[in-house]
Amino acid sequence: MRVVITGGAGFLGSRLAQVLLERKYLCDPAGNRREITELVVADVQAPAEPLPGVRYIVGDLLEPDSVAKVLDANTGSLFHLAAVVSAEAEANFELGMRVNFDLTRALIDRARKIGIRPRFVFTSSLAVFGADLPGVITDRTAAIPLSSYGTQKAMAELLINDASRKGFIDGRVVRLPTVAVRPGKPNRAASAFVSGILREPLAGRETVCPVPPETELWIASPRTVVASLIHAHDLAPERWGHHRIVNLPGITVRVSEMLEALKRAGGDPSLVRFERDPVIERIVCSWPARMQTTRATELGFPSDTNIDQIVRAYVEDYLGK
Ligand SMILES: NC(=O)c1ccc[n+]([C@@H]2O[C@H](COP(=O)([O-])OP(=O)(O)OC[C@H]3O[C@@H](n4cnc5c(N)ncnc54)[C@H](O)[C@@H]3O)[C@@H](O)[C@H]2O)c1
Repeated sequence: MRVVITGGAGFLGSRLAQVLLERKYLCDPAGNRREITELVVADVQAPAEPLPGVRYIVGDLLEPDSVAKVLDANTGSLFHLAAVVSAEAEANFELGMRVNFDLTRALIDRARKIGIRPRFVFTSSLAVFGADLPGVITDRTAAIPLSSYGTQKAMAELLINDASRKGFIDGRVVRLPTVAVRPGKPNRAASAFVSGILREPLAGRETVCPVPPETELWIASPRTVVASLIHAHDLAPERWGHHRIVNLPGITVRVSEMLEALKRAGGDPSLVRFERDPVIERIVCSWPARMQTTRATELGFPSDTNIDQIVRAYVEDYLGK
């Protein structure tokens, strides 16, 4: 079975590619376990470390004909991760609309036209929530975003739900918590500091935290999120029903608690300097930090246990300790 990951040279996509290579199988559109015979990664950037066994298509998916090259008649599954992240989508509305919404629509249209009905996993975000938040978000809380990124994700969610109802694709939308700890350089997500305040001090470097220590966050580890993408893919369509969207489990953690965990892991919290940034603070503080993810639990999605486990996973997976 041919499997495609858009945005597969990015943080989560490259990790997903690695895990799929090791796993070697997924459920096919009929629900049977099928060997992955071709793993295609499509991204505008070349991978930092190409994985043997992956076919890379490097190029802008917004270019004419590129979607047709990526989705062909043999494609059974698509993990659509390509995106313009939160702060960048806020700063560049046009680009955010084109990548976060138009590209999603183009992929669905292509699947419809060639009649392949792939399993279509889409990475949405807790940024779909924003206005009038209750103390705890539930599976029934309305998505009323307070950012262009959240709005574009929410629009894509509804389209995927409808395209699944129409039988064009077999969609599965997972709303990700903020994923930490992200390795490498910071990206243009408003939440980039969430990883930075752990990653940088663990490497002995100074970093800036743009929100106050009492700020609460809803986070998950890359290990758990990648396992969730695969779980979302493999669930039978009947388990999803007409509601193709799920809030993924996470943990609620304060910035100050993250710094305590950093210390326990051998890092120096004094390397984190607090310097408030009103733009970042406004975006990040509009996101929920407490969620009751009953549906995800019923559907069997995995979850992290605490911040120490998340820091430990980073040290093991990325610092090789
Ligand atoms: N990391 C998080 O905390 C988080 C939280 C919520 C949701 N998400 C979502 O998860 C997905 C993956 O996130 P990530 O952290 O790995 O992001 P990332 O920025 O590392 O990866 C996204 C990839 O998309 C690619 N891309 C962007 N525009 C493209 C285009 N026009 N054509 C081809 N490729 C293009 C980028 O080059 C990049 O490699 C995204 O959809 C993101 O919105 C991530």
